[in-house]
Amino acid sequence: MCGSHFKATFTFSALESLASENSGQGSPDQDRIFGTGGIVVKLLRIDSSPMGEAAISRQLTMEFVQCWLNANPHSTVMKRDLTTTTIPVIDAAWVAANYTPKESRTHQQDELLKLSTEFIAELLDADEYVMGMPMHNWGPPSSFKLWVDQIVTASSSPERPLAGGRATLIGKRATFIIAAGAVYAPGSANASKNYLVPWLRTLFGSLGIKDMQFVLADNTRETNKGKIDRAAFLAPHIEAIHALFEKELAEQTRHRDGASA
Ligand SMILES: Cc1cc2nc3c(=O)[nH]c(=O)nc-3n(C[C@H](O)[C@H](O)[C@H](O)COP(=O)(O)O)c2cc1C
Repeated sequence: MCGSHFKATFTFSALESLASENSGQGSPDQDRIFGTGGIVVKLLRIDSSPMGEAAISRQLTMEFVQCWLNANPHSTVMKRDLTTTTIPVIDAAWVAANYTPKESRTHQQDELLKLSTEFIAELLDADEYVMGMPMHNWGPPSSFKLWVDQIVTASSSPERPLAGGRATLIGKRATFIIAAGAVYAPGSANASKNYLVPWLRTLFGSLGIKDMQFVLADNTRETNKGKIDRAAFLAPHIEAIHALFEKELAEQTRHRDGASA
């Protein structure tokens, strides 16, 4: 039970570090390193539901973080709340700045790209991501889409390397936790309308992430309308998150036993 092991209460503003004893440097090019055994790794938690503490996706990303800290003691969790960060809609001036090589950019263009470069630095710094989001109109919520438009660059440079197809985030893992009102199970009437999962796969795949995990908490309307108790609704999804970590711990044990044999 990950949540029951973890005592801290999280209240973050925009970006904050947790449990940072010896912050490790994430390397986008190396294979993902496991945290158990004293290796310090960084998790970036990104939330985008406008529903605050009541959001189902946020309750589940919180559970993921608790499990992750149990599995990765002395490691660091950073949080980016996309609903408390003012992210501008990109405009012509931003696009022009994004296409301008660093050495040719004006001070004003550097300023326009400041938030974007900050978001990119967070992605490069972390070893692993958990991204929680509601499904809105069969896609991501607008705050998440605004963030995505800020992180994908026109070309690759050392401080802004996230050009599509460059595989810059290779070796990192992303877990996506999605809350959706309707049912999207295979064979259901809405199954073919889940555009969010393939969109996320395409987007983060183009940035180099091969290791993606998805937790879909669908049918939230049943609990939002009071037909299913919230704890009963969350239980199987919390179990699904625990199962991800049990699988990982088993892999780590195999890895360790293999190395010491
Ligand atoms: C603007 C808006 C659009 C939504 N669009 C969809 C949708 O396309 N499909 C769906 O299944 N649920 C949709 N919902 C329901 C949410 O996905 C659902 O309430 C979910 O629990 C929200 O996640 P959260 O609790 O993490 O905010 C929508 C809700 C809102 C507010």
